[in-house]
This record gives sequence, C-alpha cells and structure tokens, in this order.
Amino acid sequence: MKKILLTRNIPINKDNYPDFDIVVLELGRAPTKDELKDHAHDCWGLVTTLEDKIDEDLLKSFPQLNIITQFAVGTNNIDLKYCREHNIAVCNTPDVLTEATAELTFALMIHLARKLSPAMDNAKTGQWKGWEPMGFLGKALKGKNLGIIGAGRIGERVAEMAHRGFGMNILYHNRKPNKKIELQLQARMLDKRELLSDSDVLVLMTPLTPETRGMIGSAELKLMKNDAILINTSRGEILDQAALVEELKNGKFFGVGLDVTTPEPLPSHHELYQFDRVVITPHIGSATEEARRAMAQLCFDNLKNKASNIALLTPV
Ligand code: GLV
Repeated sequence: MKKILLTRNIPINKDNYPDFDIVVLELGRAPTKDELKDHAHDCWGLVTTLEDKIDEDLLKSFPQLNIITQFAVGTNNIDLKYCREHNIAVCNTPDVLTEATAELTFALMIHLARKLSPAMDNAKTGQWKGWEPMGFLGKALKGKNLGIIGAGRIGERVAEMAHRGFGMNILYHNRKPNKKIELQLQARMLDKRELLSDSDVLVLMTPLTPETRGMIGSAELKLMKNDAILINTSRGEILDQAALVEELKNGKFFGVGLDVTTPEPLPSHHELYQFDRVVITPHIGSATEEARRAMAQLCFDNLKNKASNIALLTPV
C-alpha cells in the first residue's frame, strides 16, 4: 500500500481511501523536521501545510516520494526546483479557497472602515452612554478606489465583490493585464506608483515569490494616502512590517488589516498589536468549513489521480 503522510489533521475520511496507508501526525502543531524525517523512508505521498518547510535537506530523506499535495494555494514553503528535478509532483488547492479568502478580505475591510474594534470595545466596557451623532465615524466604501496588487483568482473575486456589491472602482497592478476584470468591472491597470497613490483601500493578493518579497516597503507606503486602508491576506513577507510600524507611528492609515504577518505566529508583545486601528487575525483566509473540506478533498483527488497515473487536477 502507498503510504501517505499528513503533517496535520485535515477534514478527510480515511475510510474512503482503502488503497492508501494514511498516517496523520496529530501533534496539534506543525511537525519539526526530525519528526517528519522519522516517517519519511517509505512515504509515497505527502500532504503539507504552509508551515512545513519542505526544503532540499528534508526531501533527501524521502527516497520514495512521488507527490506532495499542499493543503493551501501558496507553495512558497516548498523547494519546487528540487521537486521538478527529482520528479516529485507538487499540487496545491486553488479555486476552492478563493471565496473564503475574498470574504475574509472583506471582513477586514468593513471591520476597519466602520471602526468595529473601538465600537465593540465601547459597548462591552460600559462606555456606551447613548447614541453618538459624531462618534465612530467610519468611511463609506461606495465610490472609493480599491487597489489590488495581484489580480489572480482571489484578487479577481475581491474585485467582483467590491464593484458589484459595494460600488467601488477597481484599480489593479499585475504582471499582465486581466482582461476579464477590465471588461466586466471596468477595472484599470496602473503602474505600482499610481496604484499606491490612488487607492483608498489597498489589498495585497499576490503570491510570495523572489520578485514580490518586500515589494511594499517604506517608499511604497509613503506613496499611499494618509487615510487609506491597507489589507494583507496573502503572505506577510510581501510587506515590510518594520516600515509599516514606522508609518503607523507617523499617524498614517485609517486602518490596517493583516491576516498574515512576519513571523507567524506574531508574538503577542509585538508593537503592531498596540495600534487600535490595526486588526490582526491568525492566517484564517481559507478557514471556512466548506473551503477546508474542499481543500482536503482536492488534495486526495490529486493523490488518487497520481496513484492511477491520471493527469493531476491542480499541478503547480
Ligand atoms: C493560505 O495562505 C494559502 O496559501 O492557501
């Protein structure tokens, strides 16, 4: 039987896969490299998460590995070059988490635009004395410019929700034009400088690659409007966090929403938690029951296809 190693417990019913010997590392955290190596020698398939560092050193201890299925869309934690050179297939879980991640992007956007953190605190801590004609004034989204860095699947869905649902104007920056959102949503592609200076809300939706690492640094943040809302639901490393803290100290930004940080977890004493207008969530973009079930299913559909020599559904 082909041994499949899952580095974390995911929502899948093992009984549906009698042809696989499924081993789940139920540690309640990502395994260490040594813990992974302990199970490596006879492993045919590996199901990973974004916390597993799948580098050359680790892969060398998996002599029988045929396929890695990443329980995420981003694969920046995997040495793809090594996998290519050693004939190890790599799959991910695109599409099935698009809706969940786009929805979380909006959860953060509306939370910040309507000052929900201070408003909820006010009610909960007994400071709610009466209706406030001038209190908790947020910002309307309608008619505002939404800037999207990275108009891939999730960026596209965010654009759709923003334009059709909230009447926002869509601006984007991408390696290549996205004709679909240009035609359907009147989105406009801008260079990075223009996008930064014109956006009322800026969302970072690009994968982490050598080109995108640190692409939003001090100079870029300074180009943004003083009262902009900035949201990152992609990867923490895209944004220079130290530069962000500096700008926040200078009074910049109406709100900042981060579902991803550097490092993860972000230690609870980190300066970013000191700002009332910063909302941080623990990398929950795809965390809906529906998305996580579909992600698990897609991982196993890919494993089954590989085992039967059928084309993979979502190769990277
Ligand atoms: C989550 O961040 C993912 O890449 O799926």
